[in-house]
Amino acid sequence: MQNDMQNDMQKTMPHDIPWWQTAVVYQVYPRSFSDSNFDGIGDLEGVRSRLDYLQWLGVDAIWLSPMFRSPMADFGYDVSDYCDVDPVFGSLADMDALIQDCHSRGMKLMLDWVPNHTSDEHPWFVESRSDRTNPKADWYVWRDEPANNWFAELTTGQSAWQFDEPRNQYYLHLFLRQQPDLNWDNPEVEMAMHDTLRFWMDRGVDGFRMDVIHLIGKEIDRNDPDEAFAKQQGHGSLNDVAITHERLRAIRRVLDEYEGDRASVGEVYLLDEAKMVEYYGAGDELHLSFNFSFLWARWDAPALRTRILTTLSHLQPRGAWPTWVLSNHDVPRHRQRYGGTEEAARVAAVMLLTLPGTPFVYQGEELGLIDAVVPPEQVVDPGGRDGCRAPIPWTADADHGWPLGSWLPFPPEADDRNVGTLQQNTDSILHLYRNLLQARRGHPALQSGTFSMSDRDDDVIVYERDGGERRYRVVLNLGSESLAFDDLRGATVLVSTVPRDAFASFDGVVPAQSAVVAMVP
Ligand code: GLC
Ligand code: CA
Repeated sequence: MQNDMQNDMQKTMPHDIPWWQTAVVYQVYPRSFSDSNFDGIGDLEGVRSRLDYLQWLGVDAIWLSPMFRSPMADFGYDVSDYCDVDPVFGSLADMDALIQDCHSRGMKLMLDWVPNHTSDEHPWFVESRSDRTNPKADWYVWRDEPANNWFAELTTGQSAWQFDEPRNQYYLHLFLRQQPDLNWDNPEVEMAMHDTLRFWMDRGVDGFRMDVIHLIGKEIDRNDPDEAFAKQQGHGSLNDVAITHERLRAIRRVLDEYEGDRASVGEVYLLDEAKMVEYYGAGDELHLSFNFSFLWARWDAPALRTRILTTLSHLQPRGAWPTWVLSNHDVPRHRQRYGGTEEAARVAAVMLLTLPGTPFVYQGEELGLIDAVVPPEQVVDPGGRDGCRAPIPWTADADHGWPLGSWLPFPPEADDRNVGTLQQNTDSILHLYRNLLQARRGHPALQSGTFSMSDRDDDVIVYERDGGERRYRVVLNLGSESLAFDDLRGATVLVSTVPRDAFASFDGVVPAQSAVVAMVP
């Protein structure tokens, strides 16, 4: 096997490795996960009641999308109180119980911190907009005229500046106009936001996913050069300025005030690995950063190989730990993006969970879900993201575990693709995810072994993870022909996307549209 990339990822003993490097993180979008009081909206008690399931699946950590007080213009990403739970999700006491129950199972809990903007109903903004002289007058970004040509996201190409009475001024909003941007140039804002982190770390949370964290530094008086492109994209994915790094180092120091490896994973929505890696700093900014170039790569072996190698070539020299994510609450689910077959979803699962770095699984991808078809009269998200936020079907019953209905329609195939049905079938994609998570635990080289990828130009991605004592080969056959590996004949297969006779010895053949993880003899 020809290796074109060797890295020096640590050969340290597992106990030296922080949890956020070995963990598989499961994203819970609470509105759509599980509903305990039958109002059609998932809630914290619902999450807590499903921890048995998450433990059975084998996840190590949960990232919980926002459950703070919110008017829900952006379904929780418009926060009106960072230090309280929205009544639709429950109470602070429910949060405490959830933190405790996660910890008693050895699971970590990360919250979704939204530092770029608040809700327009946050008391800070209510005060700030009231006149030009109040104590919070400078907590948001106010100007007499729009200071630049920026466009807002989640809108239909609208300006990021909104005129407001009675200040007779414009305020900046990079998302909805109900989401005014905080003024991070004001040290009082920075301090107040640090305190919101402390509030939750005092209660025991293990870290934070940091929403659009690359936006907390901005050069307000600078136009986006390509206006047509900016209008289509919104300003957010173009914003990359130096001051943000200083602010990230300050945030890191707040996390470091606490014991126990409190961790950050940043949503750095820059579609360029070279830019994204900067947000790890010199190991003194984010612990982890999402990698959207990989998420958006085509389901195509050469394209994926390029993204993987490009990612590692930027991150590894700096000792930055990679992340891998294929789906979340903002994008069409990857099974759908990859053409809709379950085969592709299975091969993708093997890739996601065996690459070197921290994988993130979005609720429902373990069921092989695609997006719900949402009829126009049921559309609720201004950003067009309802489909991937469909509720999780728990049972094969007509109500799928949501007795009085749910806020969005179910995904297609919910009669078959639900937790109860797939748990019964050991050949299901759900069991494939579970097997992969078990394999990672039983074979730490899959978490932290070195990585080397074969140099190929066909439809097959082949790489090895080497833990020193044992070596594992991952073969992802995206092509239409089966491929034989002579040196894998008789090898132990840890995981396979196609059912195999447990007693027959492996013939080394990886069929089209399938994947295996094998121990190299
Ligand atoms: C992030 C979130 C998205 C939200 C936006 C504004 O991209 O993932 O859901 O709408 O930030 O907070
Ligand atoms: Ca509920």
